[in-house]
Amino acid sequence: MIPLPRARNIADLRLLAKARLPRMVFDYIDGGAEDEITLARNVDRLREHTLHWSVLKDISSIDTTTTIMGAESALPFFITPTAASRLFHYEGELAVARAATKAKTIYSMSTIGSTSVEDVAAVAPGPKWFQVYVWKDRGLVREGLARAKAAGFTALALTVDVAVAGNRERDPKNRFTIPPKISMTTALDVLSHPTWAYRLATSPRITPANFDGVGGDHPGGIMGFIDSQFDRTVSWKDAGWLVEQWDGPVAIKGVMSASDARECLAIGAGGVWVSNHGGRQLDRVSATIDALPEVVDAVSGRASVIFDGGVRRGTDILTALALGADGVAIGRAYLYGLGAGGEAGVSKALEILSTELRRDMALLGVTRIAEITRGHVSRPR
Ligand SMILES: Cc1cc2nc3c(=O)[nH]c(=O)nc-3n(C[C@H](O)[C@H](O)[C@H](O)COP(=O)(O)O)c2cc1C
Repeated sequence: MIPLPRARNIADLRLLAKARLPRMVFDYIDGGAEDEITLARNVDRLREHTLHWSVLKDISSIDTTTTIMGAESALPFFITPTAASRLFHYEGELAVARAATKAKTIYSMSTIGSTSVEDVAAVAPGPKWFQVYVWKDRGLVREGLARAKAAGFTALALTVDVAVAGNRERDPKNRFTIPPKISMTTALDVLSHPTWAYRLATSPRITPANFDGVGGDHPGGIMGFIDSQFDRTVSWKDAGWLVEQWDGPVAIKGVMSASDARECLAIGAGGVWVSNHGGRQLDRVSATIDALPEVVDAVSGRASVIFDGGVRRGTDILTALALGADGVAIGRAYLYGLGAGGEAGVSKALEILSTELRRDMALLGVTRIAEITRGHVSRPR
């Protein structure tokens, strides 16, 4: 196994994470819904795009700074919200938030993170976004927003592609739970990763920290309480209600069509976030990169367009920017880094992607993000 400093690309970080984490934990990051067709499609379709360079440009100074939904960022890519980061490294969200702060990019935090918004804010003075769901108990939603606002989070992402949980078959097969349970079936997997097991045993229990003190009397415990709070009646009206509750930009995360993008504009969303939850929800939906152009056209500059899904290379970021994304969010790319080596691993993931992006911009013949246009890419049939 290569040491972390010698990892050359995100694929190397993935292999390191695979070696360091119990299989059930690695599979929770790596897997997707059912036959994982959309998971693979996100990656494959990005790669099928063709880039077109211009030669003999002065590329002596490359500038990757940009503004994404009102937030200034040194990079056009940033951290997407993912649940329970302490599963992958004992420092969890704090490790990721510190690495994002050092890279001067946006940290966006899952509502079901394993660290509180206040603790994240204490280590992350830079731009921070909070991801939310519209819970059945709207009072709980309002409380979450008030806490996020007080902690200095500036924007929200409302995730709308989790009407019900996706069918991720690797997890029940591995008997994976949050927090993980050590049983006869999982013991061998866990004990063959002693460093991870030691940290799990000696760190505070992994819980959704923003829910401490609520739902404790639910028969299914805190995770049962959260499951019971998913509201199957949520509609555009409720999304509009959320936008009204927050005095700042709200992105709608999980949009895959022009018609839904127009609904986002109608409720006053500041951002339209093209995502299929990294292929973890409805299998066989299209790759996000194939949905991006119609969303960009429908939005037509009236809101920020954010893209995620399948980004593993600087050229993936270039492709999404060329097709009109204002910002690109990365998920597994940084989670592999987190599993591979905590904060240093996340920093390594960010450094790999930013080094690739800067080199790719030079080779493409552009020096600023705004110079990347549709002419730089052609789409596969
Ligand atoms: C392990 C894991 C947990 C996730 N948890 C959340 C979450 O709590 N909230 C959310 O909106 N999206 C969540 N996502 C989806 C990501 O925000 C993002 O849409 C996806 O990871 C992008 O695809 P990529 O991993 O290929 O970059 C999660 C994704 C992964 C891999």
